[in-house]
Amino acid sequence: MFVTKSQFIRDLKDKETVSSPFLVKFSAVGADKNGKSFMNVILMDRTGEIEARIWEDVPRYIGAVVRDNFIHVEGKVQTYQGRKQLVMNRVQPLREDEVEVKDFVTEGTLDVESLYSELLGFVASMSDPYYKALCEATLRDDPEITDKVKRAPAAKSVHHAYKGGLLEHVISISKILDGLAKHYGHIVDRDLLLFGGFFHDIGKIWELSFDRTTDYTTEGKLIGHLVMGTELIDRKIAELESVPGRIPGKFPTEKRLLAKHVVLSHHGLLEYGSPKRPKCLEALIVHYVDDLDSKVNAISRFIEADQAPGEWTQMNKMYERFFFKPEWARNQPSQI
Ligand SMILES: [Fe+2]
Ligand SMILES: [Fe+2]
Repeated sequence: MFVTKSQFIRDLKDKETVSSPFLVKFSAVGADKNGKSFMNVILMDRTGEIEARIWEDVPRYIGAVVRDNFIHVEGKVQTYQGRKQLVMNRVQPLREDEVEVKDFVTEGTLDVESLYSELLGFVASMSDPYYKALCEATLRDDPEITDKVKRAPAAKSVHHAYKGGLLEHVISISKILDGLAKHYGHIVDRDLLLFGGFFHDIGKIWELSFDRTTDYTTEGKLIGHLVMGTELIDRKIAELESVPGRIPGKFPTEKRLLAKHVVLSHHGLLEYGSPKRPKCLEALIVHYVDDLDSKVNAISRFIEADQAPGEWTQMNKMYERFFFKPEWARNQPSQI
């Protein structure tokens, strides 16, 4: 049986009856105040995500409604606390060959190929032969890394959490770092700044799995992208040193240490997962620019998706405040 998808999340209206396949992004079982269990689910398709609930027959559905599974849903859309929610009355598991997989994977609005050529342009503009060779070997000449860099989100949620998001984040940061390198002149090393922009989150291509939905891998949970990034630096330097004439000489120790330091310290504080706080200007700048870019992206997307009427958003739990909605964000069609 092949199930055609006729209803997409972006177009669902309040009180609409739904009979359509979806991909499960998240599921958890909770209990209401009387102890009755319910399922809290996030469904997705290529147009977006919607919260969903199962109130009846929960034990029957636990095995089918799991992350990365396709399910056929019969239910009804409701509005709850200003957000659309799908109440599921019947759920049927589907196999991958029963659906058109591309209907369920988030549409990328980014032109990934042109972002990638911008990245190679920045690499080509570097002047230090060691940092430059390290970037070329990783970002240009390694097909596995290139493929993942083009597809990876920058995070599971919060900021740049969509296909190509990592690359978008890296290019945005690189442009800012390039400007700051000019602004601060000789007191900072432009190549080390750019290197930090490219490599600070590169470990995320293995920290996260993102073929369908995004989640942390076991390596990501046990090691994390900061340490994975520094391991990659060591591996690539060993590769460069093994090819005669690829770099002018042995990779200088100080450059290797600074490169690893910029990656390890980019979260800024020990309590944010950095084992070392930034201890050179380039590391400090990469940390602040990374923080700035991720917050601008997260907050602008929050404002854009907000459905509260008027000039103020709903409470943003992460930043513990309401945000003012500028003209462009008011009265737009809902995204979720
Ligand atoms: Fe990071
Ligand atoms: Fe980052």
